Amino acid sequence: MNCIYSLVKQISLKPLFLLTFFFASLTYGWSADGAKIFKQNCSRCHTIGHGLLTGPDLKDVASRVPQPADTWLFNWIKNNKKVLASGDAYANKVFNENGKQNMDVMDGVISDDDIKAVIAYVKNPPVEAKPAGGGEKTETAHAEEKGMSTFAVLLIVAIALIFLVAVLGNVKKNLQDIVNAKKGLPPSEPVGAVKWASQNKRTFVLILLVLGFFTLRAIYIGVMNIGVYDTYKPEQPIKFSHKTHAGKLAINCVYCHSGAEKGKTSGIPSVNVCMNCHKAISEGPLTGKVEIAKIYDAVGWDPATGKYNKPQHPLKWNRVHALPDFAYFNHSQHVVVGKQDCKNCHGDIASMDVAQQISPLTMGWCVECHRKTEVPGMATNPYYADLHKKLAEKYKGEPITVEKMGGLDCIKCHY
Ligand code: HEC
Ligand code: HEC
Ligand code: HEC
Ligand code: HEC
Ligand code: HEC
Ligand code: HEC
Repeated sequence: MNCIYSLVKQISLKPLFLLTFFFASLTYGWSADGAKIFKQNCSRCHTIGHGLLTGPDLKDVASRVPQPADTWLFNWIKNNKKVLASGDAYANKVFNENGKQNMDVMDGVISDDDIKAVIAYVKNPPVEAKPAGGGEKTETAHAEEKGMSTFAVLLIVAIALIFLVAVLGNVKKNLQDIVNAKKGLPPSEPVGAVKWASQNKRTFVLILLVLGFFTLRAIYIGVMNIGVYDTYKPEQPIKFSHKTHAGKLAINCVYCHSGAEKGKTSGIPSVNVCMNCHKAISEGPLTGKVEIAKIYDAVGWDPATGKYNKPQHPLKWNRVHALPDFAYFNHSQHVVVGKQDCKNCHGDIASMDVAQQISPLTMGWCVECHRKTEVPGMATNPYYADLHKKLAEKYKGEPITVEKMGGLDCIKCHY
């Protein structure tokens, strides 16, 4: 301890100043990541170019708000209630057009720099892959995550190497000392890295600090992103389009995902469900007969004879959403009891050609909604009658959120 203290004491102010500057610039880059801020604070209610959620689609928003756009957007995002209260005509128009739903006040939630970063992001979102080429998008999402962990691995390897060199240098010196002692010579001079480190203690400590910081940061990023596949959009064996089926044809989600109201998983419909309609419909406007023929191939249906007389080739849909095994999530609890719309968590699937993950599915995301969302029908649902009476007494008139019902207890979500 003493030795570390004396080393630190030796560090002069100049490199410390540089170091602080360096860290400050790192953390700046950190907090000002517009894409991430958008994902965490806005994507629940807004898309950029994917249609309406709770709030309007923010595509080209800078050109429709009062100018100068940056100033208006900044004030709005920071505290929309203030802008509304000031009588701003545009703000009140948007408010009325969106069913008078309130946007969250971001003041105190994210910093001013974050707001600026998110404005820059909204004005200039990354270029989207073409709907049909879902595969490209997937690769970038994965490449980013892979890049991050490769970075962490490289750092750890680098640090391990430095220590190895130091240890080997020391071993060599010790061996030399033994030989010297036998010959009656004085102990050898320190060699290589050890020599350098003992002569440049300040620089050595600085390097250790910087490397240590980077390692911690890489580990932190790695941990916070465990299993995060935001906007994950895999290629599917059949170019099935939600936009056609749930959008244009307006087929109810639970017609195909019947599990959502019944149990834990929503499930993916079996090809037989497709056949309810596709026995008769063998052609679509986008892909002609090609994609629908794959349904016939899967169930062994021969459209020429109208019989199931061919070998079957079961389809394997690629999973889009996947929570880690240690987290418990139940659809019917949210959809039926919690009265949550599919949109709240999955975005506007009905406007997507290729189904895509919109929400981060992190613990923070679950918890945030549980903090804010009132348990619907708490007062009227006989199942809750008893609990409601107790909670109502305890929280006197305050809305009963999922949190107050115990929805933040670890065991509710973790086995
Ligand atoms: C709880 C849902 C919700 C969240 C979270 C949310 N918004 Fe909004 N936002 C809305 C609603 C609803 C409106 C429409 C105006 C109204 O009703 O108040 C809106 C309007 C806007 C507008 C004006 C849109 C237009 O067409 O002129 C902008 C810009 C905006 N939001 C940006 C953001 C940003 C950036 C974030 C994240 C930092 C965010 N919003 C987070 C719900 C939300
Ligand atoms: C005609 C049947 C059909 C309808 C209607 C339908 N879906 Fe799907 N859904 C599918 C099929 C097939 C898949 C698997 C292929 C894919 O991911 O595109 C799927 C995949 C999904 C996924 C991704 C599943 C995963 O792997 O994580 C979500 C989320 C989803 N649907 C939500 C919805 C919502 C919300 C609606 C209503 C707006 C809806 N679906 C309507 C058939 C349907
Ligand atoms: C409730 C009826 C219904 C169900 C169930 C249904 N479809 Fe369709 N599907 C249609 C109709 C109608 C069209 C033609 C759309 C049009 O003409 O715009 C179509 C078109 C298609 C197309 C061609 C799209 C194009 O535009 O070229 C594909 C591929 C397809 N469906 C796949 C599936 C798959 C896979 C399933 C099962 C998961 C399924 N459908 C379930 C009614 C249905
Ligand atoms: C409260 C958020 C929430 C709501 C509301 C919600 N989902 Fe999900 N959905 C999820 C999560 C989280 C997963 C990932 C589950 C997993 O991996 O175990 C998921 C997965 C899915 C899947 C993939 C298959 C499965 O069951 O794991 C489909 C399909 C799906 N949802 C459809 C729907 C439909 C349709 C609705 C509306 C009727 C809906 N979801 C409502 C959060 C939600
Ligand atoms: C869009 C809002 C929303 C999101 C996102 C959400 N939940 Fe919920 N959750 C609710 C509501 C509303 C209820 C209350 C349902 C009820 O009355 O039982 C609930 C209840 C629960 C419960 C039962 C709590 C209890 O006290 O009985 C569990 C467990 C749960 N959610 C897990 C999750 C997990 C895991 C995730 C993330 C993968 C998640 N939820 C994401 C809204 C949400
Ligand atoms: C509302 C549901 C919910 C509650 C309550 C909850 N968790 Fe989680 N937790 C999750 C989900 C979902 C994940 C998976 C997140 C992911 O894949 O990124 C997770 C992940 C984790 C992880 C893995 C690290 C990570 O960030 O991925 C740990 C550790 C953890 N939870 C601990 C806890 C503890 C301790 C509590 C109680 C204080 C708790 N959780 C309460 C939903 C919940």
